Amino acid sequence: MTNQRIKPSLPWKTRISIALISTLNDAACRPNGTINRRLLRFLDLQAPPNPKPTNSVSSSDTTLDATRNLWFRLFSPSLPSDLLLPVVIFFHGGGFICLSPASHAYDAVCRRFARKLPAFVISVNYRLAPEHIYPSQYDDGFDVLKFLDENRATILPENADLSRCFLAGDSAGANLAHHVAVRACQTGFQTLKVMGLVSIQPFFGGEERTEAEEQLVGSLLVSVPRTDWCWKAFLPEGSDRDHGAVNVSGPNAADMSGLDFPEAMVVVGGFDPLKDWQKRYYEWLRKSGTKATLSEYPHMIHAFYLFPELPEASQLILQVKDFMTKCWSELQHN
Ligand SMILES: *[C@@H]1O[C@H](CO)[C@@H](O)[C@H](O)[C@H]1NC(C)=O
Ligand SMILES: *[C@@H]1O[C@H](CO)[C@@H](O)[C@H](O)[C@H]1NC(C)=O
Repeated sequence: MTNQRIKPSLPWKTRISIALISTLNDAACRPNGTINRRLLRFLDLQAPPNPKPTNSVSSSDTTLDATRNLWFRLFSPSLPSDLLLPVVIFFHGGGFICLSPASHAYDAVCRRFARKLPAFVISVNYRLAPEHIYPSQYDDGFDVLKFLDENRATILPENADLSRCFLAGDSAGANLAHHVAVRACQTGFQTLKVMGLVSIQPFFGGEERTEAEEQLVGSLLVSVPRTDWCWKAFLPEGSDRDHGAVNVSGPNAADMSGLDFPEAMVVVGGFDPLKDWQKRYYEWLRKSGTKATLSEYPHMIHAFYLFPELPEASQLILQVKDFMTKCWSELQHN
């Protein structure tokens, strides 16, 4: 097997910041399975919530449960209050081990989503591994849905349409969004209805090594040693990567038959070592009877859409917007 010789073409600024993030992240993840949180905090530039509309979006934080630091940041576009808008519940990436809605890159991308979709975006702060292992992240994600359903009137602006709700996430956040979507299908909500799932470069895996994992060695951000480390930090002692949370379409997968699983959009990048897992996920969704579309960005790396200087980052937001419009119009015509 030869290593991929063709490198993605990225602006030097993007390349430098990714190299820096990768290096510091590697230094923070210790061989003994613990994390140097102090070092990670240094790397994780914070953006505070901002109640004043900036670039037509304001934001505020709401705490659900202080004992487990469960909170979310709501991004509200400045639009006429008689205009009903969909609600996007967003889960950030970071291998289940780092980052938050206040991380600069995620605050910025949620602002862009809120403005350009437009939608109310709720970015969830879930607990992190290895301090908190599976399934605390899924519990936190699901509890936010329940909370919104039960406290809709006091928490959300009147023009937030919870019956037009989308789950979205990237990387580990897209893994989380999938598992929360499964739980949502098994639950009766009062008004909340999940209409679609936006799965951006989801973080799945298995014991097996895929062709992309073997070929795209030396990739920035995502590599086999890094993903193995994250899975080990996330999974209960004694589990392997064929756990149903990881090998989502594998032998231990949740039974999808009989679930009214929402329509999904799966985004894959050509230089993402996780791309084979992502395509398998897409194919498995289709086989399970879910409507799904595959959106491929052949020249893109993992997490490309967080870098607004890349034209593909803007393209992706437009595709998400089209997807949301499509789900909505299909529902009206049924
Ligand atoms: C892991 O390593 C760090 C730094 O070397 C050390 O401070 C910490 O106590 C170790 N933790 C465990 C559980 O071994
Ligand atoms: C994950 O599950 C698939 C489907 O059952 C299986 O083919 C694959 O071998 C599993 N992955 C591993 C063992 O890494």
